[in-house]
Amino acid sequence: MPEIALQAQRVTAGYVPDLPILKDVNIAVQCMSVTVIVGPNGAGKSTLIKAIAGLVPLTEGQILHHGEDISHLRPDLMVKQGIAYVPQMDNIFRTLTVRQNLDLALRNAGSEAATRLDELNTLFPVLRDKQDAKAGGLSGGQRQFLGVALALATRPSIILMDEPSAGLSPKAAQEVLECARSLTEQGVTILLVEQNVKQALRLADHCYVLAEGRNQVDGPAADLLADPILAKIYLGATRMNVS
Ligand SMILES: Nc1ncnc2c1ncn2[C@@H]1O[C@H](COP(=O)(O)OP(=O)(O)O)[C@@H](O)[C@H]1O
Ligand SMILES: [Mg+2]
Repeated sequence: MPEIALQAQRVTAGYVPDLPILKDVNIAVQCMSVTVIVGPNGAGKSTLIKAIAGLVPLTEGQILHHGEDISHLRPDLMVKQGIAYVPQMDNIFRTLTVRQNLDLALRNAGSEAATRLDELNTLFPVLRDKQDAKAGGLSGGQRQFLGVALALATRPSIILMDEPSAGLSPKAAQEVLECARSLTEQGVTILLVEQNVKQALRLADHCYVLAEGRNQVDGPAADLLADPILAKIYLGATRMNVS
């Protein structure tokens, strides 16, 4: 049996007491896989990612990291556990240069900082080329690579990404998703939310469909993509021309 890196079990959570956004949500993410969460706007996808990252309180259920309950861990301690979160917005410091962003992310890396900086620049050569440029001046795709690089600076074993391809051109979106996929080859586990359903399903291993704060269906990404009924009901097949 492949090892489960992360599990949400019967999670109920929300922003205001007695008004749950997530209701009894269950997901399991296998080690070194890409798991994608899709669903309509307002389904609770971002809330689920934030609840896993410790940013939205759970009223019921639990989050397990390799079987250990991390439901009530402070967000800064999540990082120590190897869990990194890349928010959809504001995941870089726009007024700082690329290099300053990376230095900030590596501030606690001590004597390893130089090696890690080199690793990140090797993984994303564009960040070395643009190291003196203001992060806010990068292209959308480059900004996402920087956001992922900042997350990788803490050497996480799991990265939670909220719509990393939002607002990008189809080509840049593909590059960002392929980047996420390639990280699994380095031992990283990826859980991401995506609106580019078709592109994401082609790259992901497993997919969860969420609607109205509840699990709707889940399965191997390839099966969901291939099943015309599921595609039509849950993934907007007509619009996406999935058949
Ligand atoms: N900070 C917040 N405070 C209160 N309600 C919120 C907040 N963020 C999101 N919501 C509500 O939670 C629901 C789910 O939102 P969200 O998780 O952002 O959905 P999705 O990411 O699937 O589009 C929506 O009804 C939204 O209005
Ligand atoms: Mg969202």
